[in-house]
Amino acid sequence: MCGIVGYVGKQSALDVIVAGLRRLEYRGYDSAGVAVVANGVIETRKKAGKLINLENEIESTPLTQSHTGIGHTRWATHGGPTDLNAHPHLSEDKKVAVIHNGIIENFSELRTELIAAGIKLQSDTDTEVVAHLLSSILPSVKNDLAEAMRKTCGRLRGAFTLVAAHADIPDLVVGARRNSPLVVGRGENENFLASDVSAFIAHTRNAIELGQDQVVELRADSIRVTDFAGKEVAVTEYEVTWDAAAAEKGGFDTFMLKEISEQPKAVADTLLGRIKNNRVELDEMKFSADELRSVDKIIITACGTAYHSGLIAKYAIERWTRVPCEVELASEFRYRDPILDKNTLVIAISQSGETMDTLMAIRYAKEQGSRVLSICNTQGSTMPRESDAVIYTHAGPEIAVASTKAFLTQVIAVYMFALFLAQVHGSELDLEALVGEVADMSAKVDLVLDTMQPVRDLAKQYMNASSVLFIGRHVGYPVALEGALKLKELAYMHAEGFAAGELKHGPIALLEDGLPVFVIVPSPTDSPVLHEKIVSNIQEVRARGAHTIVIAQEGDESVVPFAHHIIRIPKCPSLLQPVVATVPLQVFACEMATLKGYDVDQPRNLAKSVTVE
Ligand code: G6P
Repeated sequence: MCGIVGYVGKQSALDVIVAGLRRLEYRGYDSAGVAVVANGVIETRKKAGKLINLENEIESTPLTQSHTGIGHTRWATHGGPTDLNAHPHLSEDKKVAVIHNGIIENFSELRTELIAAGIKLQSDTDTEVVAHLLSSILPSVKNDLAEAMRKTCGRLRGAFTLVAAHADIPDLVVGARRNSPLVVGRGENENFLASDVSAFIAHTRNAIELGQDQVVELRADSIRVTDFAGKEVAVTEYEVTWDAAAAEKGGFDTFMLKEISEQPKAVADTLLGRIKNNRVELDEMKFSADELRSVDKIIITACGTAYHSGLIAKYAIERWTRVPCEVELASEFRYRDPILDKNTLVIAISQSGETMDTLMAIRYAKEQGSRVLSICNTQGSTMPRESDAVIYTHAGPEIAVASTKAFLTQVIAVYMFALFLAQVHGSELDLEALVGEVADMSAKVDLVLDTMQPVRDLAKQYMNASSVLFIGRHVGYPVALEGALKLKELAYMHAEGFAAGELKHGPIALLEDGLPVFVIVPSPTDSPVLHEKIVSNIQEVRARGAHTIVIAQEGDESVVPFAHHIIRIPKCPSLLQPVVATVPLQVFACEMATLKGYDVDQPRNLAKSVTVE
């Protein structure tokens, strides 16, 4: 995701900003740019590709020495990763420079409005629209950049962090935040703004996290924070407890936290290049359309977290393709004499591509004459090599033992495969709409990640619980299993996931006063019947004194009366909900383990890649 740095102070702004962008590289990006304010002019340099390209550009055409500036690493959303689309973006008079992280949802109507007003847009980005808007508001607020920023934010929908500088105000940088991170670093006669503290940790450990819908005015000797209405708000300063060396984890305490945060990018990277004109295109799919049409049964096999992505796959594959699909733990598969033949497609899902149970399962399937497709995150590992075809997930290296970003990308990969198969079968469903919904999931994961503080607070509240239960229906059931697995793996707590309908057949006996029960609620509009049933389950749980922690989509008010706590997730079709609903459960488990003082990245007794049966 995009990285943001702003600086006002005594040092060379350019040096501070480029070093800060370097620290933010782990976030992932595809272009970079800087702007400095010097002698009444905004000077910018922008380059597609890695930071080194930008540094070379600056070396060949140096910028004027300056103490005020902004910098950005861009992860493309609107418009490709080109020099032109790289941030900062300027107003027409070149007086205002803006950088941005997030997505401005009403950008196309704003764009139309600006074009009608005679403005010539230079790029394809949603960000440039903000530069023009901000500039057009400035005269009406006597060139008060912060006030213009507040007014601009009032016109925007979506999630954004914005940072702006003005050519005629050499000692000011203004930032705004909604649903997207922005942290202030307080130094001595210098102050910093960044997507996260790793960008300025080499200079100061004093940080201020901006709240939702706040604007900050940053000068070398002052930091003023207001809400979008202009009312000054009190800020809480905190000391960052790690030093620059720890920034290898991108400023996160653990690889797991870093990997949880990388999920929007992992999802986007896995989708990249595979959706064209609202169709899924899997260039690497080695099976011909005829071969795929001849498949009359699919068996998915996997272990641990990957098995849960397989369970989700079953719902998608059967719903979208009507091809029967079974899911089997790899460690059980070959010992039960499964019915396999040449028309059976066996799908192995594995992050590492080396898990022995899964490897043995696919070898067995091949011996029986079945075709094997693997879904794998590790190029060149054994499973893809031994499979007839492979779909790679692009989660990047996953260091923490407990799988997070690899899981989400596995789920995305199975959706893509299911939609691809449905295309091959000439499904009558509105596949284009479904493809569009899948394509939106990266942004939705990003939104969820921005609202996780209440989940961390819940971990504190239930730290001493003897057990935690998770229930869900339909694809919410595998999500419940994954939530429970994460808590077992990381916090060594007793945790169980159940199909909510099974509650009354046994697990209900476990309910007692204060026992935390997570409930994953499907979309009320998309799955009204399931929704109604789960609302009854929530009531059953509550009636027995247990505490309900309800994960429900935005706007679902019907669950409010029965929930002790509500965790909101963005609206999406029920089938795709696991991609967002799993995230709070990862955060909960991670926080719980941290509170208990356990090693989050390397939980006891577990290995990242299990190469024994
Ligand atoms: C190990 C890990 C789990 C993982 C499972 C499957 O047990 O501890 O986190 O889900 O292996 O790994 P794979 O590499 O096949 O996805």
